[in-house]
Amino acid sequence: MAAKPATVIAIYPGSFDPITNGHLDLIERGSKLFDRLVVAILCNDEKEPLFSVEERMDMLREVLSGYSNVEVDHFEGLLVDYAAARGATVLLRGIRAISDYEKELQMALMNRRLRPDIETLFLMSSEAHSFISSRLVKEIIGLGGNIAGLVPPSVEVRLRKRFNAAGASVRQAK
Ligand code: PNS
Repeated sequence: MAAKPATVIAIYPGSFDPITNGHLDLIERGSKLFDRLVVAILCNDEKEPLFSVEERMDMLREVLSGYSNVEVDHFEGLLVDYAAARGATVLLRGIRAISDYEKELQMALMNRRLRPDIETLFLMSSEAHSFISSRLVKEIIGLGGNIAGLVPPSVEVRLRKRFNAAGASVRQAK
């Protein structure tokens, strides 16, 4: 059995398109559990993102600047390979509801099969955040709804700009 590393590094991977207050809550709690926490954006995602990787890196850096042991990065390819290359022994994921569990269990078991030395650790979302997702935030603001309190204020500003610009170009095209 491998000994506990002197410095425990955890990776919190995701799309973060954009970061929500649910992600932020998990990062805050994770930052207290590990020596270092790397928030890592997946680059080669099949989904069409609203924000580029650079924009998402900027947003994460803005929001996480106060956390001295939290770093922002991006990765391509297999998560476990990236984690191993970073010297991480933990993958951190959040579970909001039972509906998240099936996908997360499958990923955790597959990742363990690929690299048994890397553990997936789940934190339950706080009640206040268990209904928030990046997808719903984008849908709500796209339809003119109020997203205050769902994302950090700086992210809300960027979302408003993006959707106002999109609205303007659609209006121009008409
Ligand atoms: O925010 P998301 O979309 O739920 O994050 C999903 C993510 C990035 C954790 C997952 O898609 C992933 O790890 N992708 C990297 C490719 C990989 O390792 N695939 C095998 C997973 S078992």
